[in-house]
Amino acid sequence: MMKNVLLLLAASFSYCGFSQTPTWSNDVAKIIYGNCTSCHRTGGIAPFNLETYEEVSAMAGWVQQAIETKSMPPWTPNPEYKHFAHERVLPSADISTIQNWVAAGTPSGNLNSAPPLPPYSNGTQLGTPDISLSISPYTVTSANDVYRNFELFVGSAQSTNLTAIEVLPGNPSIVHHVLVFQDSTTNPINTSGAGGTGSSASQLLYSYVPGASPYFTPVGTGFRLAPNTRIILQIHYAPGSNGLTDNTTVNFKTNNTNLRKITVNAVLNHSNMTDGPLVIPANQLKTFHSELQIPGNVTVLYAFPHMHLLGKSVHTWANKPISGDTVRFVKIPDWNFHWQDNFIFPNAIVLPIGTTIKAEAVYDNRDTNPNNPTIPPVPVTAGEGTLDEMFLVFFAYMPFQTGDQYLIIDKRIFAKGATNFCGGQSVRLETIAGEGYSYQWLKDGTAITGATNYFYEAFETGNYTVSITLGTNNAVSDPTLVTVSDAPVAQVLTPSTTAIPIGGTVTLSGQTGAGYLYQWYLNGNAILGATSSTFDAPYFGEYTLEVFNGTCYSISEPLLMTGGVAQTNEIVGQTEFLVFPNPAEDLISMQLNDAICGKRIAVQDAAGKILQTLTIEKSLVQIDVHDLAQGIYFVSIIDENNSIVLKKKVILR
Ligand code: HEC
Repeated sequence: MMKNVLLLLAASFSYCGFSQTPTWSNDVAKIIYGNCTSCHRTGGIAPFNLETYEEVSAMAGWVQQAIETKSMPPWTPNPEYKHFAHERVLPSADISTIQNWVAAGTPSGNLNSAPPLPPYSNGTQLGTPDISLSISPYTVTSANDVYRNFELFVGSAQSTNLTAIEVLPGNPSIVHHVLVFQDSTTNPINTSGAGGTGSSASQLLYSYVPGASPYFTPVGTGFRLAPNTRIILQIHYAPGSNGLTDNTTVNFKTNNTNLRKITVNAVLNHSNMTDGPLVIPANQLKTFHSELQIPGNVTVLYAFPHMHLLGKSVHTWANKPISGDTVRFVKIPDWNFHWQDNFIFPNAIVLPIGTTIKAEAVYDNRDTNPNNPTIPPVPVTAGEGTLDEMFLVFFAYMPFQTGDQYLIIDKRIFAKGATNFCGGQSVRLETIAGEGYSYQWLKDGTAITGATNYFYEAFETGNYTVSITLGTNNAVSDPTLVTVSDAPVAQVLTPSTTAIPIGGTVTLSGQTGAGYLYQWYLNGNAILGATSSTFDAPYFGEYTLEVFNGTCYSISEPLLMTGGVAQTNEIVGQTEFLVFPNPAEDLISMQLNDAICGKRIAVQDAAGKILQTLTIEKSLVQIDVHDLAQGIYFVSIIDENNSIVLKKKVILR
């Protein structure tokens, strides 16, 4: 026991400076993979990928700015006003980790120990869907935003209940959002346009944005699907989709037993405005209100405010009868038409009869509004077209039943990263966080001591479940399998002496294992050619041994050797270098080891063509790039044989 304590102390001393500086491998990759790569990935909706160290460090300044201003991840409601299930909000601890990482020059850490990119599947998460409807392949023929309504026929003479809804974008790189409506009339619909469907009977069921998980109704509840109804998908294709084809699918789970019916309805609408009608004069900023007193006790599951392009902000809440107490729904300080969503309350909201539901919406019809579709502005009124405006707040609700305040809204586990990884790494598992919930995480059916938060950091192989309790209700999630591959043992065996004789060497030996590959490091730099289990150490300094077993890497604790001679530069390879600022404008600087003096640096364009080279004479190299056009470039280190040994992306702007 004593020995363990001493080892821990030794480790924390030698690494304390290090542990304060976040690295990609230890800290940042986890944040990006947990919050960004659902969109910023190959084939994802975002215009660029944030999958690798090179990609994220090249954009580090923009990433920092986007998360500081909270423009990314996209999430329009003010989280200080109200939290929602599945909200995309980056915790402030993660924001400061990224700030510190950027300030330290975006260190990579040991890339071999970085967590793997989570796998993204375009397949269903509903098991076997009961209803699956796909649009016929549709090819976008415009370079701008495109909104399109697609009519799909359920073709069943019987009504049923929907208990889960899932949208699978046919082409995830162009499908920006999808509104799912039900419409049991034969009203004609508009094929294009961002307003409604064109049929006033259309009932909104669900909204999909990239990365969203399927919606499951609370146990015992469902949406009633009318007989022979139509499903209408309103799909927004992002700019840049021209010529690309999509065949989006909507899947449902159904249940024919007698379920409580969830109604989705624009409870607040143009008919209950207190200062209507919705007429927004040109060149004005105008505020409108609507309210409705509810005629019975209701249980509310989610809210969905809807405006068009002139929308500036929207706030919806309720005041209880007698006390006038405020119940918060949603506050969106900067309305963004492209990120509208159904905001799911983590606790069902119970409203007593006589409660007044209210909303306030602000519209900006001035020419200074960059989203104003008509410049110079014209008066705008209510209507379904993209150039018209709307003021609707949809709610999903049911008549109240005793115990509704204890409805467990969602019992699923969400993995915020890959669930297959190497020993020493971990994955954060999360379920929804709400008021009054208590949690117990289990591994292979056995409660994990102390694991009673809404998240759990899993380090070991196992089937994880979470048991969720709220008041009188309890629910257990489906299992999530975490598979941890054994990492090799990386250990430098204690040598005969740690004092190297002048002019001599001491043989260092690593713990061996079948199929292991080795790399020795001196002071954090790979020693060229030192790739067997032993190394004859001539230099003083801190040695570490990295071992690879074909799947996973491990790095040993450092071993300090004294005596000997100072390392000569030639033998220690450069494994990492810093390029700054990045993005750059006129001048890029590179911080290098002395070790690579005499080698050359090349500037390459995005296609790899070498534009200029220069010989490295000192550890700080500066290159004038002011006459290069904006874009992506690479700076590479070229060795004596003209091969590229290291390459970094730089953005010029
Ligand atoms: C739900 C999808 C989604 C998620 C999640 C997401 N992004 Fe984005 N991101 C986009 C899209 C789409 C754009 C393009 C601009 C737009 O449509 O807003 C974008 C643009 C950006 C930009 C360009 C500048 C800007 O502010 O528009 C940066 C930087 C960025 N994202 C970083 C991030 C980071 C960092 C994360 C994670 C912390 C993240 N994004 C999460 C979809 C997403």
